[in-house]
Amino acid sequence: MTTAAIIGGGVIGGGWAARFLLNGWNVRVFDPDPEADAKLAPVLAQARRALPSLTDVALPPEGVLTFHNDMAEAVSGVDWIQESVPERLEIKHAVLASVQAHCPPDSIIGSSTSGFKPSELQQGAARPGQIMVCHPFNPVYLMPLIEVVPSPQTDLALVEKAEGILRGLGHFPLRVRKEIDAHIADRFLEAVWREALWLVKDGVATTEEIDEAIRMGFGIRWAQMGLFDTYRTAGGEAGMRHFMAQFGPALKWPWTKLMDVPEFTDELVDLIAGQSDAQSGHMSISQMLAARDDNLVGMMRALKANNWGAGAVMNAHEAALREGTVLGAHADDLEDVSAPILTVRRAVPLDWTDYNGHMNEARYLQAFGDATDRFMALIGCDAEYIATGGSYFTAETHIRHVDEALAGATIEVLTQVLAGAGKKLHLFHEMFEGDRLLATGEHFLLHVSLETRRPSEPSPAIVAALDRIAAAHADLSTPEGAGRAVGQRP
Ligand SMILES: NC(=O)c1ccc[n+]([C@@H]2O[C@H](COP(=O)([O-])OP(=O)(O)OC[C@H]3O[C@@H](n4cnc5c(N)ncnc54)[C@H](O)[C@@H]3O)[C@@H](O)[C@H]2O)c1
Repeated sequence: MTTAAIIGGGVIGGGWAARFLLNGWNVRVFDPDPEADAKLAPVLAQARRALPSLTDVALPPEGVLTFHNDMAEAVSGVDWIQESVPERLEIKHAVLASVQAHCPPDSIIGSSTSGFKPSELQQGAARPGQIMVCHPFNPVYLMPLIEVVPSPQTDLALVEKAEGILRGLGHFPLRVRKEIDAHIADRFLEAVWREALWLVKDGVATTEEIDEAIRMGFGIRWAQMGLFDTYRTAGGEAGMRHFMAQFGPALKWPWTKLMDVPEFTDELVDLIAGQSDAQSGHMSISQMLAARDDNLVGMMRALKANNWGAGAVMNAHEAALREGTVLGAHADDLEDVSAPILTVRRAVPLDWTDYNGHMNEARYLQAFGDATDRFMALIGCDAEYIATGGSYFTAETHIRHVDEALAGATIEVLTQVLAGAGKKLHLFHEMFEGDRLLATGEHFLLHVSLETRRPSEPSPAIVAALDRIAAAHADLSTPEGAGRAVGQRP
C-alpha cells in the first residue's frame, strides 16, 4: 500500500489528504495544531461528497488516515511527502530540513507553495534533488491542475515519477519549464485581481458586477478552451494570425493604459468587503462551498462527455481505474463467467439526483444503459468494432424501481444473459447498493448493420464470446421479475 505524508493540514493540506485517501493511499498528517483532525474533518466530508462523483467508475477503497506529532513517525517509509505549511520561507526551510532528516532519500517531496521557486525551497537542503514544487488549486480534491516545477537541481527521474503518481490520482500535472515567482496560473490570477481592485476602487464596477462579467462570459469560455484556443476560434477560419492582425493595436493596451494599481488602503478593503457582504452575505461559506463543488462536478462531467480539457483527464483516470478489473476486461480474460457479471461499479454523482437528493428516474436508465454498453464491450462490441459498422440497438426496456439511492452511494450492476444467440441479446441487470436491491432492468437488443440499419449477424468473435456466457448463464435460475409486464404483481 502506498503512503503519503501531508505536512500541514490546513485548507490545502486537507485537500491533498482527501485526494490521496480517496484514491486508496494511506495518509499520515503532521500538523502541530491540536485541532488538526477537527480541521481536516469538514474538508474530508466535502471531498467524500464530491470527488467520487467525477468518474463513472468507483474509486478504490479509501486508505487509512492517521495523525502524527512526530516527524520521524510521519515520514518514515513514505512514497510522497506534500508540504503545505504557511507561505513563509523560513517555516518551509525548517520543515523541509526536518522532513529530509527522516524520510527515505528517494521519496518525492512536493511543496504546495503558491509563490516560491523550487530553488528557493532547496536553499540549505540536505538533498535538493528530492524537492520540487507541486502547486495545487483549491479544492485540491476536485481541481485537476498541479503545476510541477523543478529547479535545475531537482532529480528529473523523480519529477517524472511524481507526474505519473499525480495522473494516478486523477490530477493533470503541468510541467513548468522555467521556474518563476508564482509559477503560471497565479500570475494570471494576480493580473485579474489587480484589474478588479482598480475597477472597484474607481467605482467602475462592484464586486458583484465583476463576478457576473466573469461567470456569465469568459469564465465559462476559459474553462473549456483556455485563452489562446478561445482567441484562435474568434479569428475565424484564418485562426490566430488573423485574430492578432485584427486586434493588434488593442493587444498593446496592457503596456499602456491598463496598468494602474490601486493602493491597498483600509478604505479599499472596507469598500470591497462591504460589497462582497452585500453580494453574498445571505449564504454561509459552507453553503457556498457545497454549491462550488456541485457546479465544478457538473461542469467537469459535461467536459467528460465531450472528452475535452479537464473532462479528458477524468476519462484517462477512469480508464486507469478500470484497468486490471472486470470492468476493463474482455470476456476471454475471465476464467469464470458462470455468475452474473459486474458491469457497473460507481458512485451516484451529484448531478444525477433530484431536489430530494435521490437518484432520479432517468439515471436508472442511464446506469442500465452503461451496464449494457459495458456488457457489449465485454463481448467485443467495443468502439473499435462499432467503427467497422456493427452494433447492438436496444429494442425494448423494462425497469423496476425497487428502492432509493442517494448521491454518493456506491452502486453496482450485475448482468445476467437471459438469451444470446445470433442477432438477439436479452439482458437482465440488477442494481445493488451493498446487498440492497435498488432496481432491475430488462433489455432486449438486436445486432444491426450500421450501414443498412437492418438486423445483421454479429462478428464470429462476438458470437463466440456471447455463446460462452449465454451457455454458462443458462444454468442460473430466472431472476425474480424477469419477463414482468408493467403493473403486474409478483
Ligand atoms: N489557499 C490556497 O488557495 C492555496 C492554493 C495553492 C497553494 N497554497 C499554498 O499552500 C500552502 C498552505 O496554505 P493553506 O492555505 O493551506 O494555509 P493554512 O493556513 O490553511 O494551513 C497551514 C497549516 O500548516 C500548519 N502548520 C504551521 N506550521 C507548521 C509546521 N511547522 N509543520 C507542520 N504544519 C504546520 C498549520 O497548523 C495549518 O494547519 C501555502 O504554501 C500556500 O501558498 C494555498
